[in-house]
Amino acid sequence: MELNRRTVIAGAAAAGLAATTLGTGSAEAAPGGRKPVKELFGKLADGTKVHRWSLENGGTRLKVLSWGGVVQSLELPDRHGHYANVSLGFDNIDDYVAKTPYFGALIGRYGNRIGKGRFTLDGTAYQLSVNDGVNSLHGGTKGFDKHVWDVEPFTKGSDVGLHLYYVSIDGEMGYPGTLRTKVTYTLTRDGDWRIDYEATTDKATVVNLTSHVYWNLAGEGSGSIENHELTIAASRYTPTDSGLIPTGELAKVSGTPFDFRRAKAIGRDIRAAHPQQVTAKGYDHNWALDKGITARPEHVATLRDPSSGRTLSIASDQPGLQFYSGNFLDGTLVGTGGRVYRQGDALCLETQHFPDSPNQPAFPSTVLRPGRTYRTSTVHSFGS
Ligand code: BGC
Repeated sequence: MELNRRTVIAGAAAAGLAATTLGTGSAEAAPGGRKPVKELFGKLADGTKVHRWSLENGGTRLKVLSWGGVVQSLELPDRHGHYANVSLGFDNIDDYVAKTPYFGALIGRYGNRIGKGRFTLDGTAYQLSVNDGVNSLHGGTKGFDKHVWDVEPFTKGSDVGLHLYYVSIDGEMGYPGTLRTKVTYTLTRDGDWRIDYEATTDKATVVNLTSHVYWNLAGEGSGSIENHELTIAASRYTPTDSGLIPTGELAKVSGTPFDFRRAKAIGRDIRAAHPQQVTAKGYDHNWALDKGITARPEHVATLRDPSSGRTLSIASDQPGLQFYSGNFLDGTLVGTGGRVYRQGDALCLETQHFPDSPNQPAFPSTVLRPGRTYRTSTVHSFGS
């Protein structure tokens, strides 16, 4: 099936995912917000153009690529009003294609790992693309982060934003069903960055979409995030085996380095030599949020950089949060500002369902069936 802009949008509309206010590339300026501006970012090897959209509202400046829905830059003021880009990334498309560890990207169909890349649904066994040892990570060798999305700007009241569309055909990366995906990035008048994910399928499948921004609230390339203070509203987390697949246990954080129920510097316990940290080379775990699945986004985590005063507060309707402390950044990638990224120079806070849920009957279900619409939202609020 040939996918082009027309079939993607028509398909999305037919699936009931029509945009609220579809822009045409010349959207009106929202009060208080700057209309999304499009520019050429680069070209893929086959000549396909990758565009970058720039948005600004409520003091937040966001740059998004059509490649993987990547947040290429997210600028925030510090307590003195000085802006810095707080999201790791690259200044060119070639590095995103060749070597990104999912910097800023949309992740699908399945955020995090599925053990051995296998699962059984309604009696049928599926073998997924395997790309992390024996396991499937972030959707396989060519996940949603490695495709050009169809992007439409919009303005709605005082909000500005982008609708991003991607159709994943039946069997792609081994997943059943054609999945029509719409992700909406909204910058609100208060400078919040909201993500709304929607998807429909024509066959029963599994889906777990998330966003993979690498945060450093002092600015990308400025060094370690170990002084950042983190709060996670979770009393339990999911320990993993040596391949970072959950064992199925919901372990208590109490009395362990995994207790972030009160604000704690990330560096405080990161060398505590807990066996789970030795396996993961730091933190790389899913926290089972105390609030569980909620009808609307509720507070799940707060991050604060004492040096700049910048804060990030995350609200989600999802049951889990993957906190990854940048353990595999190894000093070989040169980032947007020309500086090298080393281990612990950023962290990810991925709102999601639990890893390996398709193989864990006790975990909340990630199954999506025809006739149903997958919907989930995450809100990032900033302060300084
Ligand atoms: C995973 C890590 C992985 C990283 C980058 C995170 O979501 O939990 O294990 O290394 O993504 O791929």
